[in-house]
Amino acid sequence: MTAQQEIETYLETQAGLETLRFITCGSVDDGKSTLIGRMLFESQMILDDQLSELERTSSKIGTQGEDIDFALLVDGLSAEREQGITIDVAYRYFATDQRKFIVADTPGHAQYTRNMVTGASTADVAVILIDARKGLLEQTRRHSFIVSLLGIRHVVLAVNKMDLIGFDQAVFDQIVSDYEELSRRFAFETVTAIPLSALKGDNVVSRSAETAWYHGPTLLGFLGAVETRKALVGHAFRMPVQWVNRPDLDFRGYAGTIVAGTIAPGDEIRILPSGEIASVEKIILGEAELATAEADQSVTLTLDREVDISRGDVLVAAKDPCETSDQFEAKLVWMAKDTGYIGRTYALKTAAGTVNATLSEIRHTYNINTFEEAMGRALELNDISVVKLALDRDIAFESFADCPPMGSFVLIDRQTHQTVAAGMIDFALRRASNVHRQAVTVDKKARARLNGHAGRCLWFTGLSGSGKSTIANALERKLHAKGYRTYILDGDNVRLGLNRDLGFTDADRVENIRRVAEVAKLMVDAGLIVMTAFISPFRAERQAARDLFEEGEFVEIFVDTPLEVAEARDPKGLYRKARRGELPNFTGIDSPYEAPEMPEVWLGTELDSTEKAANFVMSDLLL
Ligand code: ADX
Repeated sequence: MTAQQEIETYLETQAGLETLRFITCGSVDDGKSTLIGRMLFESQMILDDQLSELERTSSKIGTQGEDIDFALLVDGLSAEREQGITIDVAYRYFATDQRKFIVADTPGHAQYTRNMVTGASTADVAVILIDARKGLLEQTRRHSFIVSLLGIRHVVLAVNKMDLIGFDQAVFDQIVSDYEELSRRFAFETVTAIPLSALKGDNVVSRSAETAWYHGPTLLGFLGAVETRKALVGHAFRMPVQWVNRPDLDFRGYAGTIVAGTIAPGDEIRILPSGEIASVEKIILGEAELATAEADQSVTLTLDREVDISRGDVLVAAKDPCETSDQFEAKLVWMAKDTGYIGRTYALKTAAGTVNATLSEIRHTYNINTFEEAMGRALELNDISVVKLALDRDIAFESFADCPPMGSFVLIDRQTHQTVAAGMIDFALRRASNVHRQAVTVDKKARARLNGHAGRCLWFTGLSGSGKSTIANALERKLHAKGYRTYILDGDNVRLGLNRDLGFTDADRVENIRRVAEVAKLMVDAGLIVMTAFISPFRAERQAARDLFEEGEFVEIFVDTPLEVAEARDPKGLYRKARRGELPNFTGIDSPYEAPEMPEVWLGTELDSTEKAANFVMSDLLL
């Protein structure tokens, strides 16, 4: 056979096989990469040339002396090789006569929980690696928890490095019973413990002669037989629209992947969130028209009437629609080094597009060691929590338990565009749907007419002692004299009343600014020129404040007084206290200040008097 023929025959046999997806999770040194490499190797998916390349590299940089270092097969990235760790999710493909396998190799460092969540979201089985010498670790608990949250029903407890403990059954049994204790908390359908040595090959593909006392399956034997996740074919039809295809005026198709259910021409669908109804005319796949399509297929639908559909809308079975809401409770796995705060707004990305979402409440976080529920106002790296999220508009969704693709989401930092959390929706919160904005007759425009000017928010930001309050005060005097209706919201004053319950932790500052921004918005609505004088150290909250206002209403004024100058002034003696260590979390000393990047007004040190600064603001804003 020619190489071409060989490939074709191979592909033909493979096409008929079922695919099993699994993830491997473990700590850095548990031997994950070696295990995967061993499976790839023994399932003979390594082409000859790749093998000789491997032999060459092994003797050069491998850690196994003359033996082949299987980890090198997996740790493809050079950065990983150098650091001796795996740093991203890597999908590997291999096959036996019975099945195709896709394995998501997820790094073992604690901070890479993110990759694990990514890899686990479609897996049938989780292989949790244990170093037989070490037993269960905190990582084991965390990974098991996440695996259960993600709805993976089958767990393999791969007790690795058995060769290093002389294949001691007692040690294996102890680990198994420890894990039984732990897994009682989770709703796994099966937990299969296998004693193995990835390095030596025991019980990975072939049965080990060293473990006569073990009667269960080998790892690959188990993976070849365990049932796979069924596509959500039996579920009601759901298809988020990924793209509206409109090449000319005669054709309009809606393209996307069917995430659940089946569809056929003539079926009635509902478009969410609008709720409009239409019938499917054609199902198009490439050049072909299909008589029916089902979950996991990517197709283009045409409808029997003109309806307004855009990317992110969800097409659902008309008689069995999913919910829409702008508020829900969800489980969250925090995956960023940056802390998550109540009151902070993130971009929330679901199958149905991206919306703004405010973390409105942390109901509790879980202590990973005791599984007790803990209270908190902030989310740290790797925290698993139950939270409430408030969105800026309705989205169509389903609980993760009912329909994972419609109930999973990620949160993205709006400043850095980093994914900070993965989430699973539990249920919609009804409160939002029962609170409606009351219409009022006298509106902002009417008030502006009576006042002779529109309301505005002049948002001063800068270090303590930078001059925010003093300049705002001088400015108010001038504006007042010219007949403007004004008000000053000042940090120290507001903290004596409305925000009396807040201190100076990052979490409290976030909430401080959130409330102040809401109050400022009401004042602008009332027709006032409101000046806020708060350090407001974080960009995210200043952005969130800005987002509350209409175009042009919000003016960010950066009082750019350098730390040395503010500290030399030290009007309240607070810098001195902070330097003595008597005032923790002081901005500029041991708490950060994130300077504005593009403020509307920038007050630098050349404006060496309050008068000059106030005049500059007036003329800059044409007041
Ligand atoms: S903010 O960071 O939440 O915006 P805010 O402007 O309300 O702060 O309050 C700052 C004022 O509180 C400072 O001008 C200072 O007088 C006082 N203060 C007391 N403790 C601190 C602290 N740890 N850090 C900053 N300011 C403090």
